[in-house]
Amino acid sequence: MATVATCLLFFTLFTTSYSAIINTGSVTPNFTTTHFLLIDNEGVFLRSINGTYTAAIINPKPTSQSYYLLIRHASSGTVVWTANRNTPISNSGDVRLSYTGITIHDDSGVSIWSTPALQSTVASLHLLDSGNLILLDRFNKTLWQSFDHPTDTIVTGQRFPVGGSLIAINSPDDFSEGDYTFNLTSGDGILRWKSLTYYRLLMDPKAVRNLNQPVSSLMVNGSGIYLFGSPESNVAIRVLITPAAAVSEYRILKMSTDGQLVVMRYAKTEWVTDFSTPGDSCRSPSRCGKLGLCSTGGCSCPPGFRTAPVSGCLLSDKLLSLPESCGGNKPPRESNSSENFIYVQLAAGMKYYPVDFIDPVRNGVVLSTCKSLCSASCSCLAFFYGNQSGSCHLIENHMGSITSSSNNVTDDKLGFVKTISSSQNQDDNSNSDFPVVGLILLPATGVLAVSVFAIWMCRRTKNNKMRQNSKKLDDNSYSDDLEMFSIAGLPVRFDHEDLVEATVNFSTPIGSGGFGTVYKGVLRDKTVVAVKKITALGAQGKKEFGTEIAIIGNIHHVNLVKLKGFCAHGRERFLVYEYMSRGSLDRTLFCPGPPMEWQERFEIALGTARGLAYLHSECEHKIIHCDVKPENILLSDNMQVKISDFGLSKLLSPEQSGLFTTMRGTRGYLAPEWLTNTAISDKTDVYSYGMVLLELIQGRKNCVQPLSDGSGNPSTSTDGQSSISSGSNNRPRARAFYFPLQALEMHEEGQYLDLVEPRLAGRVTSDEAEKLVKVALCCLHEDPALRPTMTNVVAMLEGTLLVSEPRLESLNFLRVYGRRFTEPSTVVTGAEIEVPSGFMVVTNDSSSPSASPNSFSYMSSQQVSGPR
Ligand SMILES: *[C@@H]1O[C@H](CO)[C@@H](O)[C@H](O)[C@H]1NC(C)=O
Ligand SMILES: *[C@@H]1O[C@H](CO)[C@@H](O)[C@H](O)[C@H]1NC(C)=O
Ligand SMILES: *[C@@H]1O[C@H](CO)[C@@H](O)[C@H](O)[C@H]1NC(C)=O
Ligand SMILES: *[C@@H]1O[C@H](CO)[C@@H](O)[C@H](O)[C@H]1NC(C)=O
Ligand SMILES: *[C@@H]1O[C@H](CO)[C@@H](O)[C@H](O)[C@H]1NC(C)=O
Ligand SMILES: *[C@@H]1O[C@H](CO)[C@@H](O)[C@H](O)[C@H]1NC(C)=O
Ligand SMILES: *[C@@H]1O[C@H](CO)[C@@H](O)[C@H](O)[C@H]1NC(C)=O
Ligand SMILES: *[C@@H]1O[C@H](CO)[C@@H](O)[C@H](O)[C@H]1NC(C)=O
Repeated sequence: MATVATCLLFFTLFTTSYSAIINTGSVTPNFTTTHFLLIDNEGVFLRSINGTYTAAIINPKPTSQSYYLLIRHASSGTVVWTANRNTPISNSGDVRLSYTGITIHDDSGVSIWSTPALQSTVASLHLLDSGNLILLDRFNKTLWQSFDHPTDTIVTGQRFPVGGSLIAINSPDDFSEGDYTFNLTSGDGILRWKSLTYYRLLMDPKAVRNLNQPVSSLMVNGSGIYLFGSPESNVAIRVLITPAAAVSEYRILKMSTDGQLVVMRYAKTEWVTDFSTPGDSCRSPSRCGKLGLCSTGGCSCPPGFRTAPVSGCLLSDKLLSLPESCGGNKPPRESNSSENFIYVQLAAGMKYYPVDFIDPVRNGVVLSTCKSLCSASCSCLAFFYGNQSGSCHLIENHMGSITSSSNNVTDDKLGFVKTISSSQNQDDNSNSDFPVVGLILLPATGVLAVSVFAIWMCRRTKNNKMRQNSKKLDDNSYSDDLEMFSIAGLPVRFDHEDLVEATVNFSTPIGSGGFGTVYKGVLRDKTVVAVKKITALGAQGKKEFGTEIAIIGNIHHVNLVKLKGFCAHGRERFLVYEYMSRGSLDRTLFCPGPPMEWQERFEIALGTARGLAYLHSECEHKIIHCDVKPENILLSDNMQVKISDFGLSKLLSPEQSGLFTTMRGTRGYLAPEWLTNTAISDKTDVYSYGMVLLELIQGRKNCVQPLSDGSGNPSTSTDGQSSISSGSNNRPRARAFYFPLQALEMHEEGQYLDLVEPRLAGRVTSDEAEKLVKVALCCLHEDPALRPTMTNVVAMLEGTLLVSEPRLESLNFLRVYGRRFTEPSTVVTGAEIEVPSGFMVVTNDSSSPSASPNSFSYMSSQQVSGPR
């Protein structure tokens, strides 16, 4: 019997993973594959005949959901070509070879990339040993080849035609088109940043013009870079590179993300850069950000400027701000006067390299004329004026970093930066553009080192320097109260004495959480309030604290707890909230007493969903709650549901141990991406919401762990389940128990009523239960992209949107998760953690807040995440 079963299993595996075979040389239509099917081949589906190159569907960053069809040099792993560089797909997006060419489809089957219309029918797709991916017809005629469409790299022997361009990738994790381009023109190779030229290949001391002929193509080989004239035997320009690469060595030419055109050689095991131009790295205009001053010592700001939060520099004078370009297409702003603008002169000798490539708009004019020309153009950000020649160069649309010239100042141009005088505080301006980021570091437990963005704003910035630079904000530490009062929209400020009085010296604690203890208080006007004393506060100054609570305080929604005011007293911070008479959901739901009616559960589910949907999409700043759980869902006597603790994650500092308390409290609601390196998003809250929904359905905690003493009794009284375990169903209740898995299994069997709290038997219809269970399971999809948005959850609950079918392939992790959960061997007590095959459960010790991060509870989905 066992043999039969094994054979069957093998058979099934074999038939479903037919595409997992790595083809050599070529494939023929109809061929379809996805990363998911290729997982055992690390995404590879095609290999060149001698194995030098492979074609694969992979994600550059192991935990990202951005997959690309690309060609790699097999031994070095270097990506030399990417098909869908601006439109990555998920691991289930597919790549198809049909008679009409290659197409790439996203999850929903929409074509997001394809080869152009071809002259005849495709007979085969070949990956050549040269690295060229070609489509042939049945007469072996080439219909299309990847060499004609290079991305950022050309390989040895590849012909790069005049008019072609290499566009650098954004970052090693993101293959989309970045800001740097290398164009081959008939006269030279041009290096551009955005629309600005900053260098030419012929400017490099190694570049030699051999023949005065127009260039027709470029090639790199073992001895250097060759720009051919016509016929191709004529070398027009050459860049000899020493040492010449050995025949066995592999060489590529690449436009790099930092604006350098490089020639690299793969010498046995490592990459060696043989040539890099421009030699002066300060020539790359993004090197130090907007108006940053680049020198051999690194980046700084020119006199009169200070470091900007993200990158580059801002004016030291906070009353002046830098204008945003209106973009080149719009007509100049209607303005006669240059009075609107104040021009700040850069110190003598400050040089902006792209100016050398910008033709003057006028020559022989006086400075004031040049100034008004800049004022008249809304895309003008600065101008450079030749003091001797009277030439006027306008810097439009983009301003990069500058350098300090040590050469003779006499023929250098004078730089003037356009600024807008504003009465508004410059810091507030910059803050509004700067995503508020709470960088939370979870403890590294051997395999896990997780850093996540807790909260970010709707406007995203792709600047990677954000994190480093966000520290600089703190350096400016404004502890001055005056600064704080300048923040618009700040809620009411309470005196510390008032709060002491209202709470009778903080004598009535009504709850505690990761952020601190909550006390009941009564204000003088008899309003009952909840006063939260924040203990796990980050090291921000009052101003940063103020900025953040101004955001929280301006969020008004019927399903969100209202922040009434705050208090900053010395280093202490208090938040004053409206009081919710019935306390948090966990008390009512998990504690002994009459069961909550189904209708009430449904209202709570809906109210919570509405509150989260508002945070995620409707309020001005997108807010991810990060800690959705019954403890944070508050109820009042009149059946109101309100979410608390939103917006607080960013008040925490990574070092603060209180954070880990939060994380511990959240165990069981944590989405898998908290534990992998995947970005935290609003979908992380959706996952936690799904967990809460399951608890609402069954009326008890999703995860029940056995005591480590093996007595078989439920460990904690907070589960409140011993009192309700007298129901008639025969689920093993005294054992370790993982409800989400049961929900999945009962969903597969269609037995929805089995999941509902037994005490509600007869008061719930199967349809009602099915709806909530399905919504919950959809929220638990392992792939965040497959989870519905909270807005859609609301619509599904309200009945205006059809409830989606849960996708089993994205829920299979629950099986592994659940099985591991109930295996006693994976229950580890104490701080010494070993990771049993990528998974662990640490018992929920709720006492010592000072315990080392290692002892906190995690359920890793690290290994669980893959379908292997
Ligand atoms: C390939 O797909 C096309 C279009 O779907 C179909 O007409 C054709 O019969 C298929 N060929 C094979 C060999 O499956
Ligand atoms: C594979 O073929 C290419 C092109 O013919 C050749 O340059 C390369 O050395 C070969 N590699 C191996 C490992 O045989
Ligand atoms: C195309 O190339 C293959 C392999 O080189 C060869 O077997 C086939 O005969 C060629 N077909 C034609 C029509 O030339
Ligand atoms: C340079 O490349 C870009 C991007 O492909 C293209 O838009 C532009 O026209 C090219 N410029 C020249 C001068 O070839
Ligand atoms: C590189 O190409 C140039 C021009 O075709 C040629 O003269 C040179 O010998 C080649 N070098 C190598 C190492 O193949
Ligand atoms: C600009 O100045 C001209 C003449 O000096 C005047 O006619 C015109 O109305 C002014 N435009 C604006 C927008 O002020
Ligand atoms: C610009 O030129 C004028 C007159 O030629 C001279 O007086 C002035 O010092 C120059 N300014 C700078 C900054 O070089
Ligand atoms: C600076 O200019 C002076 C006179 O124009 C010249 O003699 C000197 O060599 C120059 N120095 C440099 C470093 O170019």
